[in-house]
Amino acid sequence: MKPILVVDDDPQMRDALKEAIQRLGYQATVAENGQEGLSKMANTPFAMIITDMKMPRMDGLAFLKEVRKRVGNLPVLVITGYGTVENAVETMKEGATDYLMKPFSFDKLGGKISSIMEAVASDRDIITGNPKMARLLQISRDVAAGDTTVLIYGESGTGKELIARYIHSQSLRKTKPFVAVNCAAIPENLMESELFGHEKGSFTGATDKKLGKFELANDGTILLDEIGEMPMGLQAKLLRVLQEREIDRIGGKHAIPINTRVLATTNRDLVKEAAAGNFREDLYYRLSVFPLHVPPLRERLEDVALLSDYFVKKFSALLNKEVKGLTDDALNFLLRNPWRGNIRELENALHRAVLLSRGQLIDISDFMLDEPPAQRNIDMPLDNNKRGIKEMEKDLIMKTLKDVNGNKTKAAKILGVNVRTIRNKLSEYGKIFPDEQ
Ligand SMILES: Nc1ncnc2c1ncn2[C@@H]1O[C@H](COP(=O)(O)OP(=O)(O)OP(=O)(O)O)[C@@H](O)[C@H]1O
Ligand SMILES: [Mg+2]
Repeated sequence: MKPILVVDDDPQMRDALKEAIQRLGYQATVAENGQEGLSKMANTPFAMIITDMKMPRMDGLAFLKEVRKRVGNLPVLVITGYGTVENAVETMKEGATDYLMKPFSFDKLGGKISSIMEAVASDRDIITGNPKMARLLQISRDVAAGDTTVLIYGESGTGKELIARYIHSQSLRKTKPFVAVNCAAIPENLMESELFGHEKGSFTGATDKKLGKFELANDGTILLDEIGEMPMGLQAKLLRVLQEREIDRIGGKHAIPINTRVLATTNRDLVKEAAAGNFREDLYYRLSVFPLHVPPLRERLEDVALLSDYFVKKFSALLNKEVKGLTDDALNFLLRNPWRGNIRELENALHRAVLLSRGQLIDISDFMLDEPPAQRNIDMPLDNNKRGIKEMEKDLIMKTLKDVNGNKTKAAKILGVNVRTIRNKLSEYGKIFPDEQ
């Protein structure tokens, strides 16, 4: 479990908070003000933050704003002085998770910490400094409370599943199951049983009774991932489930009432799919009671830098490397990349770069596929993303060549590789540039 960051200028309060946290079985790291808190955050991932409001240098509100520019979903519990309700309200507007007014009992503090920490246990970080994303997370929190069906749409790899999990974690169902079903991965003939279950002997091979995902997610949330891939026949059955709030197991004698909240994701344009007859229009309207759009990475360039830093640290720790960051050149390269595979592609590219890197900083050459040759045989767990990296590499080379009017020697210098590598790559792509001079 990640530690809890305590930010307070009062040493006695700091110690008391630290002790309370440790008594609950968690670890605490302390900082004296927002500035110090931020620099601790740069090196350590935290499970949550507890911060005082009034502090010299950087106060609680300014600190909270800075935290929100980095991590969208890191829970922040704010401690405010007696009688400063307006203050507390303002912090909630800025994305504080909860607040505690002084003076408070340690039981009350413990209760707040425990409930936040239980919810974070299964949370993944949502790194973002982008205003559209911040707004999206705010809407996610607002919509989480009810039982509204939410359709999350956006390009592949933008973080749709992450948002779905976030909605669940912010809802009253957070302690109940979250069950994800990938509609694209289940063969059509098995999908009905997968979703709704079956009775023993209901079809050949049904040797036992089986509960479907809707029942397994009862009182919790089901995520219908890639709903655009759901076959038409099942779409009709799903529509019935959404309308009637009950399911039919295959071979079952009567319908079973269920209380499962439905979230769905898609990277397709369902309006178009409906017009083309591939998706039921009535189901589309049922699902998109609340549509949320996750913007592509190329529309949130500030996140490229934040996410790169985050992934470098993550993979460096995971792979036991000494890598601490990226060179300016490497970052500029990442900023110029189109990221058609979005965050997943960036994550994979950095995973690979950290693996290949030999120094403290990732450089552009760490994104190249076969330079230097000595590193070629490293076992890469990223096969399925090689195409993305290839494309990225090609884009990089082509763009660099364009910048230097096709001069391969100059391009090679900028990219930190041998000019022969550039020539080989170009012949691989079938592109011809006039030789320099
Ligand atoms: N803002 C973010 N901060 C940190 N990690 C992120 C963020 N957004 C996405 N990721 C990571 O990127 C990867 C892809 O995210 P996710 O699976 O949620 O995307 P998706 O839109 O469902 O993708 P697909 O369409 O491929 O299913 C995951 O490993 C996820 O943890
Ligand atoms: Mg997904």
